Amino acid sequence: MDSQQAILETPPQVPKLAVCGISKVYRDGTRHVPALDPIDLTVAQGEFVTLIGPSGCGKSTLFNIIAGVDEASEGSITIDGHSNVTRAGQCGYMLQQPLLLSWRTVEENVMLGLDVRHVPHKQAQQAAQELLKRFGLAEFAQSYPTTLSGGMRQRVALLRTVLFNSSFLLLDEPFGALDALTRFSLQMWLLELWQTLQASVLFITHDVREAMLLSDRVYVLSARPAHVLRVINIDLPRPRKQEHLALPASLLLEQELLHVLMKEQGL
Ligand SMILES: Nc1ncnc2c1ncn2[C@@H]1O[C@H](COP(=O)(O)OP(=O)(O)OP(=O)(O)O)[C@@H](O)[C@H]1O
Ligand SMILES: [Mg+2]
Repeated sequence: MDSQQAILETPPQVPKLAVCGISKVYRDGTRHVPALDPIDLTVAQGEFVTLIGPSGCGKSTLFNIIAGVDEASEGSITIDGHSNVTRAGQCGYMLQQPLLLSWRTVEENVMLGLDVRHVPHKQAQQAAQELLKRFGLAEFAQSYPTTLSGGMRQRVALLRTVLFNSSFLLLDEPFGALDALTRFSLQMWLLELWQTLQASVLFITHDVREAMLLSDRVYVLSARPAHVLRVINIDLPRPRKQEHLALPASLLLEQELLHVLMKEQGL
């Protein structure tokens, strides 16, 4: 097969997610609150993409629309090339405040998404047990959330999200409330999970270094109503390590990201 023939026979790579011209205006009584200006973004298959932007700019709103929990005012969304009206179940969505149910064990919390889908109990339990074992939480399977540390609770919430859908994850600032060391250990754990599952991830953070440590690409969003100010490729080696952030190229990138964000907030 010559190279021209090979190109003709290779199907074009369908992105995991394509967001095209999505805007959102909330109507609060007579008040109109524009939350998103038209936004375009893509996540390629297996890519790790991060959104960073000022507080209140519309990041969670965009996630709600992608997950099908809320409706856009305009625009379209495709997942795996399909623009379904109902997108429920096509992504695992970890909310900004993920609630673990206090009366269910870790294992039962992780099974939640499968219970909602009426997967037979034994099958759901086995899937949860395998996932907990694979990602180092087997010994906590029968614990209740109140007995876990904050970092552990976030791991459980993440595995619950993964068990619901392991190919496309929407993670809304999952590590925001953690101390620096716990946060770092969860970032490394998430990277391992992402690589093992070959998942596509769209991630929200306020932390420039977190964005750089994790991502292939970063979308920098404006203040509300959010639009894309800049798309920055993070061309650091994989697997990522903390020391990659000390490379001269990283320090320049960090300054660039901070500069765009601070300028947007008039700092
Ligand atoms: N249901 C709603 N009705 C009216 N306004 C809303 C609603 N939900 C969100 N908003 C407004 O839309 C804007 C964007 O909110 P959103 O939660 O998406 O921001 P965010 O970027 O996720 O913020 P943060 O970084 O603090 O989590 C805010 O001004 C918020 O008050
Ligand atoms: Mg938010």
